[in-house]
Amino acid sequence: MRHGLENLTVIITGASGGIGEALANTFGEAGCRLALFSRSRHASLAEYVASHPWRDRAMSLSVDIRDNAAVERALLDVRESFGRADVCIVNAGIWPTESLALHEQPVRRIREVVETNLLGAAFTARAFLESLAVTGPRADDRGASLCFVGSTAGRFGEAGHSEYAMSKAALLGLVRSLKNEIVALDRYGRVNMVEPGWTATPMAAQALADHEALRSAISTMPLQQIARAQDIANAVAFLSSPALARHVSGEVLTVAGGMEGRRQWRDAEIDVAAVIDRLQPDDHHCSPAQEGADPADDPASTPPR
Ligand SMILES: NC(=O)c1ccc[n+]([C@@H]2O[C@H](COP(=O)([O-])OP(=O)(O)OC[C@H]3O[C@@H](n4cnc5c(N)ncnc54)[C@H](OP(=O)(O)O)[C@@H]3O)[C@@H](O)[C@H]2O)c1
Repeated sequence: MRHGLENLTVIITGASGGIGEALANTFGEAGCRLALFSRSRHASLAEYVASHPWRDRAMSLSVDIRDNAAVERALLDVRESFGRADVCIVNAGIWPTESLALHEQPVRRIREVVETNLLGAAFTARAFLESLAVTGPRADDRGASLCFVGSTAGRFGEAGHSEYAMSKAALLGLVRSLKNEIVALDRYGRVNMVEPGWTATPMAAQALADHEALRSAISTMPLQQIARAQDIANAVAFLSSPALARHVSGEVLTVAGGMEGRRQWRDAEIDVAAVIDRLQPDDHHCSPAQEGADPADDPASTPPR
């Protein structure tokens, strides 16, 4: 099957991470030129690139996506090396391991997550679209593609990680807006998002080592398995392909084994008697007399002393 990705220049942020490496290899094997962005794990990324046959078509750049000027400079470097950028995969992100309710989260954690996952994604998309405005569309009409990596946390929420869920949910606003903006720059340009559920990468390693957390995640999914990074890369490659997904824009492709939401309670935590009791009309609960309670407990019925 023809994917039409050959010789396209592909930007991948978060290329030093688990999903990022799978993306690099997938697009490298598809014959693309690669602009691989990482923040701190440069050495391991360099080692990964050097061990692959597509290494001579890859450049690596150190970019903190929270820094808009740095992202713009990186796009200039990409244009200097490869002439243009055709595909941009906005994959970099963070997920603090510790589960904390919003009111317990330090403000700096909320800022860091939003600045990375949301503002960093917006800055990357902005610089890519700015670059497209400078170069114009490809002469061969293989339209530009912008693909975000979101999360099922943005769809279902994630107690203990509400700041992360918020940062990922907001990406949908970008997808829905930018699909209409990109066509002013490239009439066949497309914008989509892949939404992974639990995926076996360094980000999720600690959480997945906890078998109770694993059981809880799997209990919401018909497919009893966890995604491999390659599953996410395959979905991104499909959406980025000007042949396979030429008429797909503004869509979210969820890769999460059919996940339907979040398990709220373990069996032992469900109080069936209380649930059945709550079926009674409200006055059943509101009237202390019916509950057999002491009227003295009800302040409204307590005679003045
Ligand atoms: N794994 C999962 O279960 C899962 C589920 C749903 C969604 N996702 C999403 O999938 C994407 C990739 O995650 P992953 O599992 O591959 O995680 P990972 O292995 O931890 O990789 C994260 C990547 O993001 C980069 N990064 C973080 N902050 C950055 C910043 N300020 N500037 C530039 N790069 C930055 C990291 O760069 P350095 O390492 O070089 O610092 C790394 O390359 C993320 O957006 C994540 O939210 C993952």
